[in-house]
Amino acid sequence: IGGSDMYRQQILDHYKNPRNTGELENPTFTHVGENPMCGDEIRMDVLLDDEEETIERVAFRGDGCAISQASASMLSERLHGMSVAELEEMDRDDIVDMLGVDISPMRIKCAVLAEKVAQDGADIYFGEKELDRTTTEDDD
Ligand code: FES
Ligand code: FES
Repeated sequence: IGGSDMYRQQILDHYKNPRNTGELENPTFTHVGENPMCGDEIRMDVLLDDEEETIERVAFRGDGCAISQASASMLSERLHGMSVAELEEMDRDDIVDMLGVDISPMRIKCAVLAEKVAQDGADIYFGEKELDRTTTEDDD
């Protein structure tokens, strides 16, 4: 009872006082993505540990509505200590759970924007590393 209110307060708090905004000095990868519905953009910097398995730090910046900003802020906290594999497995249900409120179909792209940006950034980073390896192997 009242849970939904608590979540609403939490979203408002993250929107007004976003955590982990700005940029990282030496991110392992950085990626910008936009919500195609509105053109709002979020950039995410992600620092991985030496083994490149665990997320050590995250910072984000960009524009967007309250849902997108709160979602980015909450996600930035949640990602700390998470493995890259866990990040890759996150889906919209996890984000809706994290936010704790009903998200209308209109706003789902706002809610998942930061998550998509982090996942795409990881995909591109590890995809390019894979490509590098293949190229190096071809050169041998
Ligand atoms: Fe965010 Fe419509 S695209 S509210
Ligand atoms: Fe643009 Fe929500 S309206 S991210």
